Amino acid sequence: MSDLNATEPTSTPAAPPAGSVPLVLLHGFPFDSTMWEDVMGLLGERGVPTIAADAPGFGASPALPGEPSLDGAAEAIAAVLDDLDLPRVVLGGLSMGGYIAMAFAARHASRLAGLVLLDTKAGTDTDAARANRLRVAEAAERGEGNEAVAGMIEVLLGETTRASEPDVVDLHRRWLAAAPDAGISWGQRAMAARPSRFEVLEDLEVPGLVVRGSEDVLSTQEDAEAMVHALLAHGGDAELVVIPGAGHMTATEDPEAVADALESFWRRCTGS
Ligand code: MLT
Repeated sequence: MSDLNATEPTSTPAAPPAGSVPLVLLHGFPFDSTMWEDVMGLLGERGVPTIAADAPGFGASPALPGEPSLDGAAEAIAAVLDDLDLPRVVLGGLSMGGYIAMAFAARHASRLAGLVLLDTKAGTDTDAARANRLRVAEAAERGEGNEAVAGMIEVLLGETTRASEPDVVDLHRRWLAAAPDAGISWGQRAMAARPSRFEVLEDLEVPGLVVRGSEDVLSTQEDAEAMVHALLAHGGDAELVVIPGAGHMTATEDPEAVADALESFWRRCTGS
């Protein structure tokens, strides 16, 4: 068995049949696979086979030994798919999940039927952003990770959600307060070390979908367009879907719109 936990939506009674081409979803930092619950519920009702995996140190997945790396997480995803006998998938990741999905594409492109990048970016961090990540990792290593990530609430959710959806704001506050130190430390160190993935996107031979909340201040319109541009580089097939009124957490701020985009992309990639 691999070290990465994969969950199924509660509304889907069975794991995707061996050999099928399901949608696999990877969560953002510092959350876990439960952030996909609403989207997965909708996709389950529409007959889209979907699983979500916890990144190392989050949810039910233990932290991986050794230097934190998104490549290590990508290998753990590959092992989960081997365990489930799923040789090909449509892989989607939100933010940190997108970084892991791009690491997977760099190493296992032939296992992809399509790639979805939500609220993420293909470039590297600035020196200041990297230094901040290491500061947060060190706080988590002292047992103070939750204090260090609490302020993220101001930038994770769009201004529309913050003004009009108190339940969604509360939910994310609770998730930030419960985020595990092991995952916070692993995630920040792994993200700080990530390379540029533009060449990976340029070389991708399967369709790509980029999704962005119109109010996302962490992954900008320019970041999204740069990924689409790279995906189109060698005559590739890519589109950008912008979700109005959502911020960085499109999947929890507007699950219906995200499920719509994922369903039509999955059907196009799999001919289902
Ligand atoms: C996330 O939502 O996963 C993070 O904001 C990603 C990041 O810190 O770059």
